[in-house]
Amino acid sequence: MANELHNYPRPVHFNNREDKEGPRILRRRVDKENQTFSFFKVKPLNPIIGAEIEGVDLSKPLSTPLREELNEALLEWKVIFFRNQAITSEQQIAFAKNFGELEVHPFYNAPTGRAKEVIQFNRNKVQKGFENIWHSDVSFREQPAKAAILRLMKVPPVGGDTLWADMGAAYDNLPDTIKERIDTLQALHDFTPSFSHLMSPEELLKWQKEFSAVTHPIVRTHPETGRKLLFVNPSFTTRIIGLDEKESEELLQFLFRQTHIPEYQVRFHWEPNSIAFWDNRATQHYAVSDYYPYERLAERVTIAGDRPY
Ligand SMILES: [Fe+2]
Repeated sequence: MANELHNYPRPVHFNNREDKEGPRILRRRVDKENQTFSFFKVKPLNPIIGAEIEGVDLSKPLSTPLREELNEALLEWKVIFFRNQAITSEQQIAFAKNFGELEVHPFYNAPTGRAKEVIQFNRNKVQKGFENIWHSDVSFREQPAKAAILRLMKVPPVGGDTLWADMGAAYDNLPDTIKERIDTLQALHDFTPSFSHLMSPEELLKWQKEFSAVTHPIVRTHPETGRKLLFVNPSFTTRIIGLDEKESEELLQFLFRQTHIPEYQVRFHWEPNSIAFWDNRATQHYAVSDYYPYERLAERVTIAGDRPY
């Protein structure tokens, strides 16, 4: 019996399997790397993505050189974290405005007493977390967000982590045949699969008129680093333009799976007053929904981006 199994034919392309083990291309940044920072300490959580920043007080206005260094740290590490920042909602907004104009989310209303740019995620025994799908925020917009800043106010006793994946690493490691295939393709992004459950049928029609599906390149170029990034996500990307439905779905599912590769990920464990600041162009994220019925309270402000190319 054992011999028979041993002789079971192996697939012809066994040596070209997409999920082959072995070395991966792991670069933090392609234009420059290993920058030194003079205003703060960088504590990496992973070799390529995610670092804690120590020695910055986010309640205070930023000097121009500090702001520029933080931007460089964000570009290099893609998501940077701060601990013990007991700041107000207004201070969070003021910090975010150092990096660009803020956007207002079309479907999330700001909580009472907060500026319109604030989104609150209040998850508890009534409302379970539903952000546990890989995504880049608002990729259904013509100009998806550049970056976002999330502040945790209440943290469950265990669980409630967030993961980010480096979409530059995801692109770098694709087989050449796939890179050639997707380099000039566009995909459709649509809010409907992820947000329609929050709307009545009438509201859905109204919003679909205002935010009709948009196309973005599957491979976008980072406007600040020039890096090629894989830019499709299972939350909003519905279809590849020019491919039939089956072909589109197979290719999308393969591309979506790239975020699952642990070498491209960082997982952050929150404490009250932890803050994450991520580059939404270069990453995708996934909020682990494992803490029900405990409470997890967070507020996000989002920095507007430009049209992917
Ligand atoms: Fe998100």
